Amino acid sequence: MPKLRLDKYLKDQGVASRSEVKELIKKGLVCVNDVTIKDPGTHVITEKDIISVRGVPIEYRQFVYYMLNKPKGVITATEDKTLKTVLDLFPEEIRRREVFPVGRLDKDTEGLLLITNNGIFAHNLLSPKKGVKKLYEALLASFPGDRAIEAFEKGVDIGDNYTALPAQLEFISLNPVIARVEIYEGKFHQVKRMFKAVGTSVLELKRLRMGEVWLDESLKPGEFRELTPEEILILSH
Ligand code: URA
Repeated sequence: MPKLRLDKYLKDQGVASRSEVKELIKKGLVCVNDVTIKDPGTHVITEKDIISVRGVPIEYRQFVYYMLNKPKGVITATEDKTLKTVLDLFPEEIRRREVFPVGRLDKDTEGLLLITNNGIFAHNLLSPKKGVKKLYEALLASFPGDRAIEAFEKGVDIGDNYTALPAQLEFISLNPVIARVEIYEGKFHQVKRMFKAVGTSVLELKRLRMGEVWLDESLKPGEFRELTPEEILILSH
């Protein structure tokens, strides 16, 4: 069974920073199975021992998963000296769990972005071999003609000697021109380059779905929530 240092256990659960956690332990505020423990280096068994801080049990969860409605204007990175990142939208206790974004959306793109600390989960979702589908909605500068649907189905040349994989395009409205496109890969500026290839440009872009998981419409830009166990399962296949 997995063993962990007591201070790491509490830090990983987002209780406080490692040094703050050490202080809490030294002050005698932390119990393991109802016994006060004052050595931060004590090893605990994550699945068996009951750890509490000031009498409150702290359940062990190795991985956390969130869906964020990414707003425009923030970059998909974990930290940046000058620009606001998607992780700046999360409170310290979640960031302490060493979460990161799964893939990236451009600074001016909004919509569904998954945030987790599970590297294997993220890797599987991003792996070109898995070809997880992603649905985007785009506001376009002009109508590229119905032939764009066929062109997307065949695969358009997006430059740099690369032909995009076949993608499904549909028009939701013509005035304004709003399209939905489903793609199975995630090259740099992929959707924008695909529309450029058929003679128009993207004015606004929003990701609506990843795999079979939709962006929760109740989330305003900048808001997030935990994925449900069902959503985690769906995305893990
Ligand atoms: N395609 C783009 O062009 N931008 C994004 O942010 C995502 C997909």
